[in-house]
Amino acid sequence: MQLPLKVDAQQKMTLQSQIVEQIRRMILDGHLRSGDFLPTTRALSEQVGISRNTTMQAYERLMAEGYIQTRPYVGTFVSAEIPETSFFADACDCAAVTDLKGVVSDISVSERLSALRAHGIVNPNADRLVADFWVGRPAADAFPLKTWSNLIRRRLARSGRVFAEYRDPSGFSELRQAISDHLGPTRGLTADADQIIIVGGTQDGLNLISRLLIEPSSPVVIEQPCYQGAAYLFESFGAELLPVPVDEDGIDVAQIPNVDHAVAYVTPSHQYPLGVTLALERRLALLNWASERASYIIEDDYDSNFRFVGSPVTALKGLDRRDRVFYLGTFSKCMGPSLRLGYVVVPHAFVKPAKALKALMNNGQPWLEQAAMADFMMSGSYARHLRRLRQMYLSRRNATLAALERHFGVLDVAGTESGMHFVWRLPDGLPPAREIEERALTVGVGVYTLSSGAAHRFGLPDDADRHLVLGYAALSETEIDLGIARLAQCLGRGRSVAPRTVRNLISGVVR
Ligand SMILES: Cc1ncc(COP(=O)(O)O)c(C=O)c1O
Repeated sequence: MQLPLKVDAQQKMTLQSQIVEQIRRMILDGHLRSGDFLPTTRALSEQVGISRNTTMQAYERLMAEGYIQTRPYVGTFVSAEIPETSFFADACDCAAVTDLKGVVSDISVSERLSALRAHGIVNPNADRLVADFWVGRPAADAFPLKTWSNLIRRRLARSGRVFAEYRDPSGFSELRQAISDHLGPTRGLTADADQIIIVGGTQDGLNLISRLLIEPSSPVVIEQPCYQGAAYLFESFGAELLPVPVDEDGIDVAQIPNVDHAVAYVTPSHQYPLGVTLALERRLALLNWASERASYIIEDDYDSNFRFVGSPVTALKGLDRRDRVFYLGTFSKCMGPSLRLGYVVVPHAFVKPAKALKALMNNGQPWLEQAAMADFMMSGSYARHLRRLRQMYLSRRNATLAALERHFGVLDVAGTESGMHFVWRLPDGLPPAREIEERALTVGVGVYTLSSGAAHRFGLPDDADRHLVLGYAALSETEIDLGIARLAQCLGRGRSVAPRTVRNLISGVVR
């Protein structure tokens, strides 16, 4: 099948983006339908006259966003379900606006917006998997449904005039106080309730901070590899992204380019995706960098509640004597992402502008869930819930490591000390990660390359990838055993071997 695609090397948009945009538009406009086959990357590159690498990378992007799928020996075809995120990205699509010529011709949409990318948080295959190691999902079975229903009911019974009133855009004061009380003992972080802004999860918090700090061409230091949700957002503000390599001690601060008035986005407690912890020496170096360079740091502390080895690592913000760190916390990992609840601790100088901006953005988050969350925290239930989750995730991590080792022998893994996922560096003899992901799908198992797992790597092709990222928190131990056994079988490693000791060869993970 040939697609009517054209590329133009003179355009500002890269050749890869031009291919992605045209195929995406054909799908969203219904010219390509679910199940329709696409040409092979080789045929497309010959047809259009561009390199095969470019067409492969274009297909990988479309796959990561859920538009298309590949099945070995079958081919590449349009996905059965186009993820909601795609329509979200499309809402700002430049081409869509030009299609409406005449109706909105007076609105000018910048090229930057036409290249918007959505990060991979919705798994397009979730419904057809028996064991899905998708990253970032908490345990659905651990949600404290009964307590939560009681708290909601009680708040509703006492709501009075609340629903008829606008409230403080920076958030429900009791929740902000509860978070402030929680952060001291758990994260070594002293923050006044006044510095805390309640947001709709990390993504909303990143938006708030970006609006405070980033303008077109602002330098933004970012981990290599890093979380797509952050990188693509900064990109949407027109920032200049400066990727800095991550090794076994976290981001290599010494390699930050020579820039002033910059922003650095980091995940110090459990680097996303590689899972390493930022070493103390580097934490201090990063803080020094920020104050010497008149710059700010965004600390994304997304899953730090789940540390399995040693004591919790103090948040970077806890060491921040010069007030250079914006701290982001989320309830997505310990309660659930559909709650859309999180918070930002802003430096003192930003309290007033952040509050004003929050009002301009959306006048604040819904009251009811904030109130229930405040009650949940203040009653001591939250601390108990976290202890229970930590134990549950530890057992699930152990089950995943043990099952992998049973079938594949000694493991080379990173990021196992905390969080809800780890990275497995594939042993010699196994196919590349992309191929394993595809084969596993055919037997109902979801295991993911770094890019499918919402990680962005600047300029590194996925086809040479030797890492799989496995999120274990949402799966029962039975599902884990079944999933890994099926994975082993489809890779020709179906035999059972006696468990051996897992070795954590973290240094081998980062190249
Ligand atoms: C690095 C990182 N930050 C934050 C989040 C959570 O985002 P949110 O709070 O918007 O649900 C995730 C989710 O997977 C993540 O991987």
